Amino acid sequence: MIGRLNHVAIATSDVAAASAMYRGALGAEVSDPMDLPEHGVRVVFVVLPNTKVELLEPLGENSPIAAFLAKNPAGGLHHVCYEVTDIRAAAARLAEAGARVLGDGNPKIGAHGKPVLFLHPKDMGGVLTELEEV
Ligand code: CO
Repeated sequence: MIGRLNHVAIATSDVAAASAMYRGALGAEVSDPMDLPEHGVRVVFVVLPNTKVELLEPLGENSPIAAFLAKNPAGGLHHVCYEVTDIRAAAARLAEAGARVLGDGNPKIGAHGKPVLFLHPKDMGGVLTELEEV
């Protein structure tokens, strides 16, 4: 059912410093920072040959990654995102298997303009898991 690994998201309190590490020490192609106020994050895309890494810094008062950084001040793996072709079918299959969809259970339009949903990390081996319809 799942397709490609769309991205790995890493939370950081300093996206500029994280960018410098990926661009410099790792020699990666790194985008300029982009503010996504409606998602409460400033994001930098690290483009790899087979997937992307998204470096996320909290933006604004109610950032969804603020609590994560309070618990993990050094930053860390925030979520992974897998591609699916039919997100509602995927959600139904996961719910049947006991995985909880966060929020009201319905897909929302994500940071890339495509339908996404998140699965509870406790049901996914401790990893917050995003599905994106492509
Ligand atoms: Co994501």
